[in-house]
Amino acid sequence: MIGASRVQQPEGCCAVSSERVRVSSMILTDDEFKLFSQLIYNESGISIKEAKREFLQVRLQKRLQAHRLVSYYRYYKLVSDKNQGQRELLDLVDSLTINETSFFRNRPQMDVFADMVIPELIRRKSALKRLRIWSAGCSRGHEPYSIAMTILKRLGDADSWDVKVLASDISLRVLELAQRGSYTELEVENVHPGYRDSFFKKVDNQFQVIPRLRKLIVFDYHNLKHENGLSGLDAIFCRNVMIYFDREEQQRLINKFHASLAEGGYLFLGHTETLQGLSDKFRFIYHNKGAVYQKTG
Ligand SMILES: C[S@@+](CC[C@H](N)C(=O)[O-])C[C@H]1O[C@@H](n2cnc3c(N)ncnc32)[C@H](O)[C@@H]1O
Repeated sequence: MIGASRVQQPEGCCAVSSERVRVSSMILTDDEFKLFSQLIYNESGISIKEAKREFLQVRLQKRLQAHRLVSYYRYYKLVSDKNQGQRELLDLVDSLTINETSFFRNRPQMDVFADMVIPELIRRKSALKRLRIWSAGCSRGHEPYSIAMTILKRLGDADSWDVKVLASDISLRVLELAQRGSYTELEVENVHPGYRDSFFKKVDNQFQVIPRLRKLIVFDYHNLKHENGLSGLDAIFCRNVMIYFDREEQQRLINKFHASLAEGGYLFLGHTETLQGLSDKFRFIYHNKGAVYQKTG
């Protein structure tokens, strides 16, 4: 008979679920919102505006539940503790990142990379035969793999070149997925069939990047708020990342990118991002709806 017997609840189960209900109805006060948004900005450069308050609240509630806490302030004390809170702060920032991405995102720009930038770099670097590209804010790997596929297709004798694509992100969660290099059929849909056949192997309904492609890429954790120590780069892709930063943080980032690029190096930004008002040390190149900046000064 339905309802006649009750399944024994595991110990502590009801307390946990009532805690969950309580936490999910907790409203973030103005002071708490300010405390957390400042903490996140200081750590990552990510600027959380008033319009994103509910987004922050929901993500915080998940972290509170993970720690079985029922007070934002108690969680703030935990996460802002310089010794004990570092790992949790990484997880909190990670949970606030937006990781939307796709292969060959912004196709006209990727065409500029393939048809203008790589041929120019091949000419300029034919003696050294060395290319260094950085995908800064690489998310789940679609961007660095797209860069590497394009390079391999364009370099006639790729094996005689020393090519490295550095791919970094602040989210350990997405870096792990990127390193795995395994994608669904839907994800590889906008990879040109010729590229898909050359660079992926189908394994159990997933598309796995082949070792030849994988080995060009070095994945690493890097917070763009910090110094990067890189120099002499031929190109930096930092697309759809700067939009989450405020003006001052964008300015600092562009200065760092400028220092990291070689003379004549290229900077690829997202299609809503611009250097206007941030730097006059780059030349704007626009070709067939694709845009890129080249370091001049
Ligand atoms: C919307 S995704 C863009 C991915 C890829 N560049 C593209 O255009 O498809 C933004 C990425 O930037 C990363 N990110 C945000 N703030 C960062 C920071 N301070 N340092 C490094 N990466 C950051 C996020 O984790 C996320 O994976």
